Amino acid sequence: MIYPKIAGTGSSLPEHVVTNAELSRRVDTTDAWIRERTGIRRRHIVDESESTCDLAERAARNALDSAGIDAGALDLIVVGTTTPDRIYPSTACRLQARLGAGECPAFDVQAVCTGFIYALGVAEKFFRAGSVRRALVVGADTHSRLLDWSDRRTCVLFGDGAGAVVLEASDAPGVMSTHLHADGRYEPLLYVKGGTPRGAGRISDGGAYTKMQGNEVFKVAVRTLRRIVDETLAANDMTKSDVDWLIPHQANIRIIEATARKLGMPMDRVIVTVEDQGNTSAASVPLALDAAVRDGRVQPGQVLLLEAFGGGFTWGSALVRY
Ligand code: ACO
Repeated sequence: MIYPKIAGTGSSLPEHVVTNAELSRRVDTTDAWIRERTGIRRRHIVDESESTCDLAERAARNALDSAGIDAGALDLIVVGTTTPDRIYPSTACRLQARLGAGECPAFDVQAVCTGFIYALGVAEKFFRAGSVRRALVVGADTHSRLLDWSDRRTCVLFGDGAGAVVLEASDAPGVMSTHLHADGRYEPLLYVKGGTPRGAGRISDGGAYTKMQGNEVFKVAVRTLRRIVDETLAANDMTKSDVDWLIPHQANIRIIEATARKLGMPMDRVIVTVEDQGNTSAASVPLALDAAVRDGRVQPGQVLLLEAFGGGFTWGSALVRY
């Protein structure tokens, strides 16, 4: 059996930091409310000149450096993003050109906050089919561009960033399994209306802001992520005690704590970045992974459970032996 093995990780965050105190001067909120309800204290936000592809490129270069692999050796690039620089070409194609990654297939996957897990799942299938030996998988978003900065229910939640992994084919695991799901019936609870309406050349924003019924999303997210923990462990014939680290999507500390409880895992075995980064959408899982690899918490041979939930609704997980 061929497994994709993580050979390198990388990340990128915009320099500009926005604190809860700054937001409380813009909208009717407080630092205490945001911290108690979400666990967020600050987030990184792009400036006018930065794009999703800029963040993706920095994260990708970090990951390629840490893997010691040249971009020209890549067989595949998959980018999870919901905030591409352009409708087309895809962020992955733009990234390929900037990295000088030859003519390998390159495409985006749009699954909102589950984007990186989806991208990883798609890449995994290419490895299993034997058609790819080295891949770059990126989660990158500038969700700040989809926010109504006068809506306190959403503008306090999100940040921008990118995380990346380089995968290499290996006989030993590796990404052991990925589990991807969606239920489009939940669209009314979480959506951005902007799109491509009928009529040529009439692309309009249509109110391109994130609309979310937060408390309803919260309940489904907790329920769904508990289920996917069971599904992931069962598929690998493992028990909760086999997992060394939980690396969850960073939307809300209370959702993360609920999943950790389900795993019977103390919070010091959970990688948490939500305090300093907020919800960076598709970037949050690879950003958390990279942080834990670089500070030495995640060690070779350990078992990692990655999971995410987001708009669509989409949700997914990956069990990885690092
Ligand atoms: N400051 C102060 N008060 C606020 C704020 C704020 N920033 N935001 C909302 N409130 C108010 C509400 O108006 C409401 O007031 P009311 O009772 O007078 O109507 C009250 O706080 C409670 O609102 P709830 O929405 O019930 O608060 P809740 O405890 O559920 O927290 C939150 C809201 C943080 C959004 C939470 O529900 C959550 O994290 N939901 C899940 C988000 C998520 O996981 N999304 C999926 C990924 S995102 C993606 O894919 C794009």
